[in-house]
Amino acid sequence: MKRIAIITSSDTGYRGEREDVSGPVIREIVEANGYQVVSQVILPDELEQLSAAMKDIADQHRADLLLTTGGTGFSPRDSMPEATRAVIEREAPGIPEAMRAYSAQYTKRAMLSRAVAGIRKSTLIINLPGSPKAVRECLEFIITELGHGIEIMTGQAHDCARK
Ligand code: MTE
Repeated sequence: MKRIAIITSSDTGYRGEREDVSGPVIREIVEANGYQVVSQVILPDELEQLSAAMKDIADQHRADLLLTTGGTGFSPRDSMPEATRAVIEREAPGIPEAMRAYSAQYTKRAMLSRAVAGIRKSTLIINLPGSPKAVRECLEFIITELGHGIEIMTGQAHDCARK
């Protein structure tokens, strides 16, 4: 079973001033798609802390897929894309491109998400936006294709075999 780690980036969530609704939405969707959640944490919007947590998950290969939520917008504290760029070795721009293109049907503000995705060792890291509604819209759209990407990444599949 493919393993998933979840990181929520939220100052107020970290301080316990706001309930993290988006992390649980990720958990619900991935579990419904046959993934196993191996860790789930809430961290403040601090680049260094976010990068360190992502590095640990990838370098110890604790998860095949690391999904983050929050911190992708324009607020001065939003640092998830920078934290992700600091740790990925290979970018996978098609994933956030697809999320933004698909999301435009719901809100043109989808263009305001700076989300990135990429690979470190054999962990695929994907930023999702912060709101539970955005998480659901984006994740339900991309999740069906992630399994194949992970299989190629880990050498379990070798070609797309798309007829
Ligand atoms: N994507 C989808 N599918 N649905 C949404 O409602 N909200 C947008 C965008 N992406 C949204 C979305 C908005 S309003 C913002 S500001 C950005 O995501 C960044 O969100 P974040 O700062 O919470 O990560």
